[in-house]
Amino acid sequence: MVTKRILKIALAATYLFCISGVVSQDIPSLKELFKNDFLIGAALNISQITEKDPVEDALIRRQFNSVTPENIMKAEHMQPRWNEYNFEPSDQLVAYARKNNMKVNGHALIWHSQLPPFMRQMKDKDSVRSFFVNHINTIAARYDGKIDSWDVVNEALEEDGTLRKSIFWEKLGEDYIVEAFRLAQKAAPNTKLYYNDYNIEQPKKRAGAIAIIKKIQAAGVRIDGVGIQGHWRSYDMPLKNIEESVKEFAALGVEVMFTELDLGVLPNPWDGNSAELSKTSEGSARMNPYTAGLPDSVAQTQAKAYADLFKLFLKYRQYITRITFWGVGDGHSWLNGWPIRGRTNYPLLFDRQLQPKPAFFSVVATGK
Ligand code: G3I
Repeated sequence: MVTKRILKIALAATYLFCISGVVSQDIPSLKELFKNDFLIGAALNISQITEKDPVEDALIRRQFNSVTPENIMKAEHMQPRWNEYNFEPSDQLVAYARKNNMKVNGHALIWHSQLPPFMRQMKDKDSVRSFFVNHINTIAARYDGKIDSWDVVNEALEEDGTLRKSIFWEKLGEDYIVEAFRLAQKAAPNTKLYYNDYNIEQPKKRAGAIAIIKKIQAAGVRIDGVGIQGHWRSYDMPLKNIEESVKEFAALGVEVMFTELDLGVLPNPWDGNSAELSKTSEGSARMNPYTAGLPDSVAQTQAKAYADLFKLFLKYRQYITRITFWGVGDGHSWLNGWPIRGRTNYPLLFDRQLQPKPAFFSVVATGK
């Protein structure tokens, strides 16, 4: 009943705003609405950090009090060549966040993906160790006191909960995660330290994440929180597992965050019923069905999924410290290019014109 009412209000509000063409100051502010509950963040790209579009910038400043760099703090950008660091974009991010009173979550110190080219084929253990130690020490120390937190290790797990066979695992052994946190703790004593991964709401992978956290704690090393990324699909929300995960992670005494939230609406090639993905035009059209716009029924399913999620976040607000969306408007979402390039996806709260969607208003309704 309550959900139906929320959806009705959300749809009516969206319609009114669409016909009037909303400017960002006219709509409620998520960071204000949830200010006593958790931070509301967004992943930003370099054009957003450097304020290229004033309309988008106004929207970002009104809605968010936390920022995660979508790409610029990853290793390939921070250390493009051996021992040569590029701090400029990250310094711009720090200045932007300070000016706008936003927290910054650094993303990410140690990740197997988006590594600098010189690292990708590195065979020698000592060289991998040098990169690992120097990268963490240099960057964590430079931004200590300037940013609030780090995703120290990102995506170290396989789906079955075992450790991913990354270059770090292979060359440094399974203790590399504890070591990464130990180095970060020393280099950045004033910065919170997090483990971040996707699908860790799923039982097997969750157990892997719990094992990582316990191992770090048992070694007497600091870990402040865990980030559940939250790349889900509106039509297939693992709500029960999400709730279980919040409880189990919170029981370890660490902060719980949702760090890369987006709820896609498109079928995935590995969905049971879309296995006939083919290169035929019929196949491609089936995998990219909403090029002409988001149908109301799909927008409503998404609005309900977001509302269910935020109700759950509010229920556990004493443990959850931040909700970060992986982008601002649908037009720039990574999900337009993955797992199939060139699709039209609609995973966020703002559309391609940066107008609020039904999902935005359904989230707002949970906060009132
Ligand atoms: O900037 C270049 C551009 O110059 C070039 O013309 C273009 C051609 O492909 O590529 C551009 O770089 C792309 C970059 O995004 C910026 O748009 C890279 O190819 C592309 O690989 C990169 O994708 C990023 C992806 O991580 C890489 O793994 C996405 O933006 C980013 O949203 C995504 O974020 C990850 C999180 O860090 C970790 N969790 C999963 C999440 C989604 O994949």
